Amino acid sequence: MAWWSLGVFLLAISLPSPLIASYFPEAIFGTPVKASVVSYEKDSLDFRGQPVYRIEFTVRTEGGEEVEGFIHRSYADFQHFDSLKSWYYKDLRLPANTGNTLAKLDAYMKASITDYDSLAQTTLYGDFLGINWDGNDIKYLKNFLTFMKFLLSDRLPIFPPEPPVFDTEKDALVPVMPFENYIFMRSFRFEDIGFEAFSEYYQNYVATLPVFAGEDDESDVWAPGMVTPMKYPYHYDKTYVHFTPGGYLNGRSVRMSYSTYNKFNFENEVILKPWFQQLHGRRAPKRILDVGTGNCGSAFVLGEIFPQAEVIGIDLAPAYIRFCRLWKEQRGAKNVFFYQANGEMTPFESGSFDLIQFTYVLHEMPQENSKRVLREIHRLLKPGGVVSGFDVLYWKDPEWRKMNVESNTYGVDWNSTAQHGPEPYMDEYQNGLQLPSYLQEIGFQIQHNIRYSNVDGIYVARKPHFHL
Ligand SMILES: C[S@@+](CC[C@H](N)C(=O)[O-])C[C@H]1O[C@@H](n2cnc3c(N)ncnc32)[C@H](O)[C@@H]1O
Repeated sequence: MAWWSLGVFLLAISLPSPLIASYFPEAIFGTPVKASVVSYEKDSLDFRGQPVYRIEFTVRTEGGEEVEGFIHRSYADFQHFDSLKSWYYKDLRLPANTGNTLAKLDAYMKASITDYDSLAQTTLYGDFLGINWDGNDIKYLKNFLTFMKFLLSDRLPIFPPEPPVFDTEKDALVPVMPFENYIFMRSFRFEDIGFEAFSEYYQNYVATLPVFAGEDDESDVWAPGMVTPMKYPYHYDKTYVHFTPGGYLNGRSVRMSYSTYNKFNFENEVILKPWFQQLHGRRAPKRILDVGTGNCGSAFVLGEIFPQAEVIGIDLAPAYIRFCRLWKEQRGAKNVFFYQANGEMTPFESGSFDLIQFTYVLHEMPQENSKRVLREIHRLLKPGGVVSGFDVLYWKDPEWRKMNVESNTYGVDWNSTAQHGPEPYMDEYQNGLQLPSYLQEIGFQIQHNIRYSNVDGIYVARKPHFHL
């Protein structure tokens, strides 16, 4: 073995694992029984750019098992914790941040358990250690009531759980973690710090996620027939949906989007599969297109239901196509293919698809664009072919439409510089597109118009053989 490779080997085994690899902090539930501050990482700042102390702790679970964990907190976090603890613990004093703070904070943490054990049992203490909350039981958009509960009363910890570290792209497929549920929930409940401060926090976190880069001109993902780089629609890189930093063209948003698979009904394969089976199971499509495939859940489900069919997922965002290709390999989904293409103007031949799916796509663009997508879908379908739209519910009642629009846009036009809401194009979708009537206007026959929940609708329509 050459001297340098021995050196690298020794270095690798001597480095603490978080420095050289991804880590995915899982939820820990129980009562803290030990806590100490073990190091000060002033040279490796956390994603907020702040130097942090590493706290290591032991928790006793309900089953009596002892589990170890760690969390990073800044001195300002300690101050916040100290200011929130009850007057009852007034004799537990936070040391000043002057000289040997590490040892003094360690003594503070140890005393917080040995001398004040009732403090360790409080929700505040659990939040400070980032335990006893995973956010997985929150039913974000299952229906209108769960959404209101999410906005107003579901518990959001005072301190964030430990953020994950993603080292490579393939890590983007690990199950959603408590920190990700926390940051998602925080994006709707940022009033305490204001939108600007939240936005900076969010952007700094997203900047740590895998980038899913490819060729400079993205030619590694171009759809067959594409010969020049994509010209993106004007709106696409202007007003971002869901507050996503950099929008869908920021490859680092891929993991952030994937981590919402347990929050939206139609991102959930367990919900999609029986619906696709019920609506399309009796058909025998040979070629299926999934427009705006994103994190590609619906493309994979269609591929499983129709193993004899060729399923093609397209999206404007190259990074999402790379993510889907990675997932395809993991799943062994041989009949599903992913390409970059614009759903408004694809390079595919007219009348070359039997079934075209779109899931949560049309409410994310101005009406002129969503109308173009629907006209393109009409062109691509064979006569007798079917479009299957799982999207935001179109409200027939104008009062409900108004409420839906106001709450999603904050009453601000998407093409302006004011603070947009999470769904800046909702007015264009609800009042401009009016999905069911536009489908009919361009020659589709509606087969199903289903109110799945107060937030989700299913619209299935057929391209007739003859247009009268
Ligand atoms: C909310 S995501 C939905 C993704 C996925 N269908 C799902 O249900 O999880 C909307 C997706 O539509 C894509 N998109 C928007 N406009 C598009 C267009 N004109 N052509 C293709 N994809 C588009 C976006 O890039 C994004 O990935």
